[in-house]
Amino acid sequence: MQFTTVSNPGEVRQILALQEQNLAAALTPDLMRKQGFLTVRHDPDVLQRMNLAAPSVIAKEGEQVVGYALVMPRAFAPDVPILQPMFDMLEQLSWRGQPLREQSRWFVMGQVCIASDYRGRGVFDGLYKAMRSVCRERYDFTVTEVAERNTRSMRAHERVGFKTMHSYTEALTGEAWRVIALDF
Ligand SMILES: CC(C)(COP(=O)(O)OP(=O)(O)OC[C@H]1O[C@@H](n2cnc3c(N)ncnc32)[C@H](O)[C@@H]1OP(=O)(O)O)[C@@H](O)C(=O)NCCC(=O)NCCS
Repeated sequence: MQFTTVSNPGEVRQILALQEQNLAAALTPDLMRKQGFLTVRHDPDVLQRMNLAAPSVIAKEGEQVVGYALVMPRAFAPDVPILQPMFDMLEQLSWRGQPLREQSRWFVMGQVCIASDYRGRGVFDGLYKAMRSVCRERYDFTVTEVAERNTRSMRAHERVGFKTMHSYTEALTGEAWRVIALDF
């Protein structure tokens, strides 16, 4: 298993294929409960551009991308409209006592996913370890949000050291979200 960053468009296409298989709409309620699920589908062109600007962290088995954690610089917020409300909310939040809007050394971890055959095998920890070493020179921490009912993802994020920054319930969907951050 190799932990590295995206270096070509084919790897982004593999990320999108993995994403497609793990979107809530593609899963049964039972699978969602046990294995987790994704909410956001990325536009292929935007994801290619995002990876040129800030390569995402990937786990590869040979030529196959088996896991990814997306690095989403704040400048990309307008390109992913579904995440704009989250970015607006982050403007109001603080981390370590300082408003996020007054800090520059952070980014949003846009999405994490591991192929089903590779779960429970340390890939999750490997992705975040690689992210830390790739990003710590430029960034002090990363922020993401996880649906509270995605208990598998919540547990894994807590295990690698993410701490809760904020909780809220989305009015339109009733989904409860936890905004969490990881110091590098
Ligand atoms: C979420 C995901 C990235 C985690 O990776 P993983 O390899 O499965 O994670 P791990 O097995 O290392 O860790 C999962 C932890 O949750 C526990 N767990 C497993 N199933 C669980 C469940 N249904 N509810 C609660 N905890 C669960 C495991 O025991 C483990 O905790 P432990 O280390 O204390 O024993 C992966 O499951 C995945 O890609 N799921 C589909 C997409 C997704 O949900 N992405 C996250 C979106 S926020």
